[in-house]
Amino acid sequence: MSQIDASDAERTATPIPETHGLTVWAEIDLAALEANVRTLRALARASEFMAVVKADAYGHGLLPVARAAVRGGATWLGVAQFAEAFALRDAGLTTRLLTWLSVPGADFAGAVARDIDLSASAPWVLDEIAAAASELGRTARVHLKVDTGLGRGGAYGADWTTLVEHARRLESRGSVAVVGIWTHFAHADSPEHPTVLAQQERFFEAVTEAERAGLRPEVRHLANSAATLVHPSAHADLVRPGIAMYGLTPVPQVDDDFGLRPVMTLRARLALVKALPAGQGVSYGHAYVPDVDTVVGLVPAGYADGVPRNATNVGPVLVEGRRTTIAGRVCMDQFVVDLGPASQARAGDVVTLFGGAPGEPTAQEWADATGTISYEIVTRLGARVPRLYVGAAGGDA
Ligand SMILES: Cc1ncc(COP(=O)(O)O)c(C=O)c1O
Repeated sequence: MSQIDASDAERTATPIPETHGLTVWAEIDLAALEANVRTLRALARASEFMAVVKADAYGHGLLPVARAAVRGGATWLGVAQFAEAFALRDAGLTTRLLTWLSVPGADFAGAVARDIDLSASAPWVLDEIAAAASELGRTARVHLKVDTGLGRGGAYGADWTTLVEHARRLESRGSVAVVGIWTHFAHADSPEHPTVLAQQERFFEAVTEAERAGLRPEVRHLANSAATLVHPSAHADLVRPGIAMYGLTPVPQVDDDFGLRPVMTLRARLALVKALPAGQGVSYGHAYVPDVDTVVGLVPAGYADGVPRNATNVGPVLVEGRRTTIAGRVCMDQFVVDLGPASQARAGDVVTLFGGAPGEPTAQEWADATGTISYEIVTRLGARVPRLYVGAAGGDA
């Protein structure tokens, strides 16, 4: 257990918002988010910047994050689902916006009417987009997606030629305009992986083929956070960082924080502090048994809040200025920490699960402890956890 250096804690302390009476909450530092966008923009100065705010901005809150990203210099927003794109537009955000996952029957008309760019990986998508645009008397903006080796979305191999020809036909009728060509990496988080360059080459070949067919895309894009940070040759016309904007590294094996600041801090207040005798098992299944008389604290946060159940006996927390680990099973709404026999803790004391200040566990440590990635730790945060915005300019708090 390591003690935090008090002077460090004072130097870096973010003012804690009013949390009296809250069980568990997430502080979202929008100033850090803006700073991260600026840091990333500086790495790809010649490229447009699409802030990826899908999945409720990786759990951080869609609208406040989108607005902060735009303040930081984002020129585009990117989301996976139509509903997310509609929420951004309906809240008044007018920034260029791309959404990329659709199924037959999706509300393409709603997207075109809201001036949202759409992605197409197959001819049927183009047909549905074109039909919606014709009905509205508009031209839909489309980004054709090529599968350069991820083996997920996008048109693969000969299907790319078919998609390009189909798009060209629809363009000549005025219902769609191909404004983007794009792809996604399989291994950008392994900087040396040979597929990175291979995918890049395949991408630019696919662009050339589309241009030869008469398409004139405005933006070619392929770089996620990892490629933005470590593959400058992939920056192209636009970069699409997600995780790095939230201050978490996509390449934890690389010993560099790239100057990014974690945006989310997850805290709770002890709901109960009590003595337990040696040998008394703790929580469901008695997965933890103290071997001395001790004092335990009840933390009112569980897997319904996004604390992974497999953090049982391994999840790190900071309490009373000391690091400790969860004692016993993570339950739906709560878990226990062993505070030790000399604890002076009281109900109401703050427990930090993860954050970014000195001494605090990080989302990456939670990911390492539970066998996942930091993306999942922040994105899985439960809907019932209030997000408290700090560092906001202009009314997001
Ligand atoms: C198509 C696309 N582009 C960009 C991103 C951002 O990725 P990252 O969070 O690794 O930067 C994602 C997220 O998975 C994505 O699906």
